[in-house]
Amino acid sequence: MNLLRRTPASEDISPTAHYTGYVWYRHGLSHPALVTPEGRLMYHAARPMNAASRRFGGPTLEGFLLARHHAIDSLLDEAIAVGKVSQVIEIAAGLSPRGWDFTRRYGDRIAYVEADLPHMARRKRARLASAGLQSPRHRVVALDALADDGPLSLAELGRTLDPGAGVAIITEGLLNYFDRPAVLGMWRRFAAALKRFPVGLYLSDLHLGSENHGASMRVFSEMLGRFVRGGIHMHFHTVAEAEEALRRSGFDSARLLTPQPQVSSTGVIDRRGAALVRIVTARTGG
Ligand SMILES: C[S@@+](CC[C@H](N)C(=O)[O-])C[C@H]1O[C@@H](n2cnc3c(N)ncnc32)[C@H](O)[C@@H]1O
Repeated sequence: MNLLRRTPASEDISPTAHYTGYVWYRHGLSHPALVTPEGRLMYHAARPMNAASRRFGGPTLEGFLLARHHAIDSLLDEAIAVGKVSQVIEIAAGLSPRGWDFTRRYGDRIAYVEADLPHMARRKRARLASAGLQSPRHRVVALDALADDGPLSLAELGRTLDPGAGVAIITEGLLNYFDRPAVLGMWRRFAAALKRFPVGLYLSDLHLGSENHGASMRVFSEMLGRFVRGGIHMHFHTVAEAEEALRRSGFDSARLLTPQPQVSSTGVIDRRGAALVRIVTARTGG
């Protein structure tokens, strides 16, 4: 189901990174260096819509954003704690604080690579450098999630990692902007890249058709549509369909989890927002 008009190009999706970057900061998850003027402006522009939705018992963008971010963080924490993963590639990281946060918390125990389109990777590197937040364990590189080969491909980046250590790939806030063939292509590339390592873990958020319909969905797509000059896609109707597609893409196992609603910095718990999103956990190897 395509809720708006067309599949957005990668550059149409980039503005949303500024919005989410500000949300992470606003809720105490990020560093001021990762706030942009665009993000602050978009956040304040969306406030009346979020407030109106909340007043009528509907979901808010922040509700599902916080739920998905915390869920991905905890699953990654767990994989690192049990020693399965010590290398992370966060694709389409945008202005997410995760690379900075995990590197400062885990130090030498992990190597973290943030990968985004060249213009965003440049901007992120400059922002980290200007605030002295760089670390030898944290790189920001240019990558196109749609590239099969060449200098911007995941295949090429994978060759720079330690082949003897487990790897996690993360995408957050990316999949539902692309149509089904593009997502299946990404999943095939991610599974193939992870298979080169003893353990591979893929974590992502995903919105399903069966959980995103009716009034909630209209509010949600209206809010997202303001930021993306194209459509959002529900590629799979049910959990079972999405899990099957992940296995067919090359993962050995796949599960979609339900994230826990989170308390926002203003003390609000948005259960409706959290119920709009699922968390993909797909594995290769050990
Ligand atoms: C919605 S933002 C999500 C940012 C971040 N993951 C977060 O949750 O805050 C989307 C990001 O996807 C990046 N992006 C869009 N198309 C991409 C592609 N083909 N390959 C890699 N990154 C891409 C954009 O540059 C932008 O930083």
